[in-house]
Amino acid sequence: MDERTFRQYASLIYAHSGINLGESKKELLRARLSKRMHEVGISNYQEYYEYIVRDPKKEELASLLDVISTNVTGFFREKDHFDFLASVLKEWWQAGQRKFRFWSAGCSSGEEPFSLAITILETLGGERFLDAKILATDISKQVLSKARRGIYEKRNLAGLPVQESKYFQPAGEGLVEVQEFVRKMVVFNYLNLQGPEYPFRGPLDAIFCRNVMIYFDEQGRRKIIDRFHRLLKDSGYLLVGHSESLLGLASGFRYVQPSIYQKV
Ligand SMILES: C[S@@+](CC[C@H](N)C(=O)[O-])C[C@H]1O[C@@H](n2cnc3c(N)ncnc32)[C@H](O)[C@@H]1O
Repeated sequence: MDERTFRQYASLIYAHSGINLGESKKELLRARLSKRMHEVGISNYQEYYEYIVRDPKKEELASLLDVISTNVTGFFREKDHFDFLASVLKEWWQAGQRKFRFWSAGCSSGEEPFSLAITILETLGGERFLDAKILATDISKQVLSKARRGIYEKRNLAGLPVQESKYFQPAGEGLVEVQEFVRKMVVFNYLNLQGPEYPFRGPLDAIFCRNVMIYFDEQGRRKIIDRFHRLLKDSGYLLVGHSESLLGLASGFRYVQPSIYQKV
């Protein structure tokens, strides 16, 4: 891929997702494009670029963003965040709160929002009058359709910190399905975090946006952190990935512990 073509792809991807592909990502881009190009029967990078930008329905652009985004995730990934959530849920419940609203922003194939739902049920599931909902959004239509199916490989549940059969049921050879009462707590939607204003209002109790902002530049991060701030309730929490820091970006937030911030 020549320099000019690489820059064309990088700015197209940046404009539509905020994902910032530096020069060092050229190999990565090439590897990810090849598979999709093979599927559509194009072998030239420039030709594939023209194909994407000429598609009036922008469907190929969505496929491009699908192959570019990194979707690695897992149940109870970075488990201390779920322990933290369990402890604040107890506090909120004791203070009389009965309605809970969360957002998994960049939810990938659903493991994160389902882990949130399971944590809520484990912590408050026995309580009456519990009204808890999780909005789960992503830019990749492919991962969203997997999330909506709610079917996972059984081996992905290894190390689950709760009794598996309470929340999953067998779904064929080596597969499990998230049970209906857990699925009902989660609503999946397509949303580009870098897109125009978000089509919903708060107040939210907590936002999980973990391992997503690493792909954005400072300007892109700042923009969405400000939006998160507006959507959170007073003293609501923003949780980011363990390897991320909001140092210098999170005005209006108090640092609680590594990767956890509270709106002030
Ligand atoms: C590495 S996964 C993280 C999944 C989960 N939050 C976790 O920590 O396990 C990053 C996700 O962010 C999504 N993503 C990347 N850019 C996005 C954007 N501009 N808007 C919404 N989602 C985006 C990707 O599609 C991907 O599913």
